[in-house]
Amino acid sequence: MDKKRIYSASGDKIESVQPVVVSRYRGLTRANHWLTALCMIGLLLSGFALFHPSLYGLSSLFGGGQVVRWLHPIMGVVMFLSFLILFLQMWRLNLPRQEDCTWLGKIGDVIKGKEENLPELGKYNAGQKAMFWAMTALIVVLLVSGIMMWERYFPNLVSIPVRRIALAVHALAAVLMFLVFVLHVYAAIWTRGTLRAMTRGTVTGGWAYRHHRKWLRELAERRGQH
Ligand code: HEM
Repeated sequence: MDKKRIYSASGDKIESVQPVVVSRYRGLTRANHWLTALCMIGLLLSGFALFHPSLYGLSSLFGGGQVVRWLHPIMGVVMFLSFLILFLQMWRLNLPRQEDCTWLGKIGDVIKGKEENLPELGKYNAGQKAMFWAMTALIVVLLVSGIMMWERYFPNLVSIPVRRIALAVHALAAVLMFLVFVLHVYAAIWTRGTLRAMTRGTVTGGWAYRHHRKWLRELAERRGQH
């Protein structure tokens, strides 16, 4: 782990300290998250290839149109199962709480980075929670509408008109999912020090104190009890 060196005004090294790090995600959860992300990227690219002839070129990334038709729904099922495991671990922490309304009411301060005006938060803020539930809803819609269109395994599940409606719903949900995905990645990069939560599994004590102080206090309390 990197050590932080502290120097006196004259430049002499006076101390070498380990920065405080807080564990946010264990290895299995991170592997689970990245499998979901990988499937989602594959699904978006292969889905766009099937969506419109002008995007058909994307199918060469997967070895051609026939492979895409076979692979896309399979990746969808893997992504659903992978997200389900994430969901089961995280849904409770994403339930709305009183402080989320206050946080949303001060969204201007969030954008300006005036953290001192914001309430203390648990593991996730209202934006992350909204994204979590949007992802959940869209993934369910994508799965259900996808199965209705999956002729290979479910040829007579629904009538042709219903299948057409499912196709439109599937495409709309995919576009919304793409927007949510872009927002999620943007927020992870925009809030400095967040990405390492999903790469290394840890965040700095300063990050936790600044963005999720209530969560940090709960962790400290739990540690104090052991
Ligand atoms: C390459 C793309 C992605 C990047 C860079 C990324 C990055 C991150 C990071 C850094 C976190 C930790 C945030 C925190 O703890 O405060 C996180 C959490 C999370 N990510 Fe991603 N992610 C990506 C794709 C996805 C995809 C495709 C999904 C699902 C479809 C997803 C679902 C989640 C969920 C559910 C959480 C937990 C946050 C919550 O429950 O509110 N991520 N991601």
